[in-house]
This record gives sequence, structure tokens and C-alpha cells, in this order.
Amino acid sequence: MDVTVKKIKSLNGEIEIPADKSVTHRAFMFASLTKGKVKISNFSKGADCMSTLKIVQQLGCEVNFLNNNELIINAEKALQKPKEALNCGNSGTTTRLMAGILSGQNFDSEMYGDESLSKRPMKRVIYPLELMGAEFNHNNYTLPIKIKGTHLSGINYNSPLASAQVKSSILLAGLNANGETSFTEPYKSRNHTELMFQYMGADIKTDGNTVIVRKSELNPVDITICGDISSAAFFIAGALIIPGSDIIIKNTGINETRSGIIDVLKNMNADIELLNERVVSNEKIADIRVRYSKLKATTIAGAIIPRLIDEIPVIAAAATQAEGKTVIKDAQDLRNKEADRITAVKTQLEKLGADIQETSDGLIINGKTELEGGCEIECFHDHRIAMSAYIAGLICKKPIKIKEFQWVNISFPEFLELISKISI
Ligand code: S3P
Repeated sequence: MDVTVKKIKSLNGEIEIPADKSVTHRAFMFASLTKGKVKISNFSKGADCMSTLKIVQQLGCEVNFLNNNELIINAEKALQKPKEALNCGNSGTTTRLMAGILSGQNFDSEMYGDESLSKRPMKRVIYPLELMGAEFNHNNYTLPIKIKGTHLSGINYNSPLASAQVKSSILLAGLNANGETSFTEPYKSRNHTELMFQYMGADIKTDGNTVIVRKSELNPVDITICGDISSAAFFIAGALIIPGSDIIIKNTGINETRSGIIDVLKNMNADIELLNERVVSNEKIADIRVRYSKLKATTIAGAIIPRLIDEIPVIAAAATQAEGKTVIKDAQDLRNKEADRITAVKTQLEKLGADIQETSDGLIINGKTELEGGCEIECFHDHRIAMSAYIAGLICKKPIKIKEFQWVNISFPEFLELISKISI
């Protein structure tokens, strides 16, 4: 599906952002480990989370939809050997977290994925899981991967990467391993696993950038999932760069390990207010008010990178409208996402008329530039690249066409409906 995007006057009004993808994956997986029934409210309907849900069913859990927004996962029976290989689709989170769960089971399994996922690096989880005793069969650390279920032992792992997927994989394996498992990372990555483990009664503690888990059970407690700040990011950036905009994004997760985008944009002179702060299922949420702002350039590097890793494409789009030179560095892992997001962002924004350069670990953007548009662009089979292009398209002088926009369905099938609801 190709879409044409035209300049709009402004973004105005109130929207509720759909459920967080990272938290939904965890809710589905952790519910499957409870040996009880868990009601999950407000889950993500994106294709990635649906890949996880299907796998949970293939492992023997019953899933009952109460309505469009609530479901119950019945995990009263222990996980069972799946009849077929497990399809992780486009989802890195599904693959890496499930590797941690499956490697400690008393049955064998196999995971595979789509073309993009089959090229993504899995050594980052295979290596530490093997240190715990896990047994895998693979070709050059990529999918498809066969997993021989076995008994695991705790390790103290010092990760070279700040990655929540790796951390969660090791913590999930640790939940079912002998003794204590600790994971230390160079910077703190998103901590949804730690918060949900705590909420479900696991034996877990955090000390700086180290998390320690001991073999424990998860309690079947109901979970309500917060709105996804990574989806809200497109509307936040849009409202900041389209003159006259004033929007409120309701019930959005503002967990501090995810809210780097707010800190960076405020530093760029953005008018962003957090209203009505509260907590749901151990995650902080708020309503976010955003008004058009005259942005100025900034440098984004170091510890903040994991706190905004998925938002860099749309921050780069916003930076084209900031006065001065915005430098993004220390983000080399962006090259290992659904697409090489450094090259994808550079290619796309340059085609629209931005002054942008690519570096080995980031981007340099000189602003402010009026974007010309009037062209056709690719989304590199990547949902976040597709939506970032859309936001840039809203300020281009001439309409743009984005090819294969259906990739948005990976995380945010409601995107077009919501953007049209607040476009004037
Ligand atoms: C995720 C962690 C991040 C992020 C991804 C989701 C998660 O990946 O980019 O979209 O749910 O744990 P890394 O752990 O590879 O940084």
C-alpha cells in the first residue's frame, strides 16, 4: 500500500496512543510462565506482538479475547513442546526473549523469521545463554535457530551492549536457572522486564546498571499496558515542527528508561508538558501536551542513546527544522534494527531536501531546511522509517509518496486513523 502525504495546516486535538509494544511482548510471555490465568488489558495489536501471542498459544496456553481490548492468557498447564517451528515474523524482541525462555524448557523447539529478521544478529543472546548451559543449532548466529531444551545455571554476565532484549533474555533464562543470575550493562536500557518481574513477585533486585534474579515463580496478576511512547514520538515530533500545532497524547508511558526523547526535545526548546502523572501496573504514565516550538540543534550521545534508540529516526526528521547542527552519535546499533536505520534515515531525509550526513555511529543534520518533497520514497521494510517519513511529509512543500506503507502495521496499525483525527 502506497500513501501520499500532503502538507497540513496543523495538528490539533487529543488522542489516546495504543499500547506499548515492548510491554505487550513481556505481558504475553510472562503470563505464559505463571501457571495461572492473567487478564491483559490494552495490548498492542501490532503484527510483532501478535507473533508473540501466537507463539504463546503454540506453547500450550489458551488465549481468550474478552473484547477488542482485553484478553485472558490461561497458562495453568506447563508449557508444552510446540508441534511446529515458531514464527517470530519481523520481531527481534520475540526472538531474543523467547530464546531465554525456550532454552531452559524440558523440550526442543525451533524459531524462524522473515527476511529482515533472518539477517539480524542473534549472537548477542546465544553467547551468554550458552554460558548458562543452553544448546542451540544455527548457521552463523542467525535464524532459523534450533533450541535443545536443557537445564540452565546462573551466570554473572557483563554485557558489552546496553540492550533490553539481551538483558531480558538472560533474566528470563535466570528465572528458571539454578542459583543467581546477574546482568550488567554499560548504560541502563529499558527496564520493563525488571518492573514487570517485580510486579509479578519474582526474586529480582537492581543495583545501578546491574540486575540480579534468582530462580522464582511469576504470580498470575492482571496487567494493564500503558500507551507506547515510541508511537507517541511521531505525534510529538509532528506537533513540534508544524506551526500552530497543539495536541494532547493521553495515557502514554513515561518510564524514564524510555523517555529520552522528551529530555532531548526539551533541550532543543520544545514546549512539552507532562500532565496527570500516575502509575499503571508498575509503569509511570502521563498525558503529554505538545505545542509547536522553534527548535534549536543539540548533541545526542552516550547514556541517553538506549533511552531513545527507537525514536532516533523521527528525532532526525524534527532536527531538520532545528536551527544549527544536530549531532547524533554512539548509536551504531541502529544499523542492526529492522533496517539499517542510519542509512535509511539519511537516504530518506536527503531525498526530501534535508542537509544530512551519515557517520559510522550516527547522523549530522544541519538545520533549519525547508523540505521540498515532491518525490517517491522507500520505507526500507521498516515501520519506524515509514512513520518518520510520513511526519516529514507533513511539512514538505510538495506532496510525497511513501511506498509499501503497510509496514506500519508491525507496531502501529492505528497510525493513519489517529494522524487524520488530529490533522487540520
Ligand atoms: C526492545 C529493546 C530495544 C528496542 C526494540 C525493543 C525491547 O532493542 O530497539 O525496539 O522490547 O526490549 P535492543 O535491546 O536491541 O536495544
